[in-house]
Amino acid sequence: MPRETLTVIDNRTGREYELPIDHKTIRAQDLAQIRLSPEDSGLASFDPALANTATCQSRIAYIDGEKGILRYRGYPIEELAERSSYLEVAYLIVKGELPSTTHFAMWRHNIKMHTIVHENVKRFVEGFRYDAHPMGILVGTVGALSTFYPDAKDIHDIESRRVQTRRLISKLPTIAAMAYRHSRGLSYVLPDNDLSYTGNFLSMLFKMTELKYRPDPILERALDVLFILHADHEQNCSTTAARVVGSSHADPYSVVAAAAAALSGPRHGGANEDVVHMLREIGSVDRIPDLIKQVKGGDRRLMGFGHRVYKNYDPRARIIKQVAYEVFEVTGRNPIIDVALELERIALQDEYFVERRLYPNVDFYSGIIYEAMGFPLAMFPVLFAIARTSGWVAQWAEMLANDERIARPKQMYLGEEERSYVPLDQRDDAGQLETEIRGAY
Ligand code: ACO
Repeated sequence: MPRETLTVIDNRTGREYELPIDHKTIRAQDLAQIRLSPEDSGLASFDPALANTATCQSRIAYIDGEKGILRYRGYPIEELAERSSYLEVAYLIVKGELPSTTHFAMWRHNIKMHTIVHENVKRFVEGFRYDAHPMGILVGTVGALSTFYPDAKDIHDIESRRVQTRRLISKLPTIAAMAYRHSRGLSYVLPDNDLSYTGNFLSMLFKMTELKYRPDPILERALDVLFILHADHEQNCSTTAARVVGSSHADPYSVVAAAAAALSGPRHGGANEDVVHMLREIGSVDRIPDLIKQVKGGDRRLMGFGHRVYKNYDPRARIIKQVAYEVFEVTGRNPIIDVALELERIALQDEYFVERRLYPNVDFYSGIIYEAMGFPLAMFPVLFAIARTSGWVAQWAEMLANDERIARPKQMYLGEEERSYVPLDQRDDAGQLETEIRGAY
């Protein structure tokens, strides 16, 4: 039987090393023994975007990007999207198993117990400018929650961790709805705990003068499915941010605020907003060839296409495409869907996209659904953040349970060697120009 090891020969010294292989990885720390002299700090691996580096051991989500597979705790995403609910999936992700009937009833009760936010949080949100981006409001307000719950600092106390987990999953929709209503100049709506998790969220968003808001069951279910699809995605940018910040033993509100901040970028959670902008800009199918030409010329990217991990159709995109048609039955057809479908058809046949294995990702169709449901574009990443909170918290708790050390990567230093300080009146402008050329500031 072949040995699960890797033999490395250092051609600088001729020495040979045998490194153990565990789950298709070698330990970067094992490279440190490869050194020129006892004083040498040894070899390190260079991986700036952590593209081929496993930063943790995890049991939460499994992705096979080649085959287009996503599973939460072993359950295929397709089965969960069809048969489960977001709250049940959140339980699965956080606790590791699907709940029994009794445990699910307790979980639902415990989540509903925390939907209301402190009155001062309301005033806090009111302090934002009328045109504040809801994602900025969300990031700031979630971070501020740590000041309302000082017990959150007891991260090694399991009861405290459980309470903060429920609070976060419960309060994110409330804060998100406040951010939305703030931008519209509307009063905030109190949570309605008779409704489902997503039904209550829709009520807090869209309730006007009616005594009781009754969400459309198709839209309520569609949003729930979208939340299921976004609940976790292993070590993506925002989850890595959560684990890195959490490794300093910051409280979970700071951890989730950091993760949400990472999510706000257009390369991550902001991409579905850009997809809608792009589809609107194209406007009609006859303008697609022009756009494809620009993309192939390297002038722009096809938003909602491509993924660091999936080199096949993103399984979430397939489910979302189906949900879109169900939503249109209620809202009417969003005309940009025709542009999206044709764009996908053309791109999937084009050599450029085929060669690079660029397929639609989760964001390609989600924005079209959100728009049809009446969400302004700026709310798209906020919806993503609500769903991903269960994943972030689960990953944070797992990181603590694994007793991980504080994240502290290395760098490859390319800067100046030691030099002496020159007094200000003895320096000329030449050095300044060089600094600008190097992009430093
Ligand atoms: N349109 C056109 N070309 C693309 C696209 C795209 N959307 N994505 C990648 N490519 C090309 C690149 O130009 C590159 O081509 P080259 O080899 O000729 O230089 C090649 O495909 C590889 O691209 P990378 O940038 O190396 O891929 P990476 O894994 O770093 O990027 C990313 C992944 C950021 C998702 C990228 O595909 C992208 O920008 N997509 C558009 C934005 C988007 O939809 N983001 C949402 C991701 S899903 C999520 O966060 C939930």
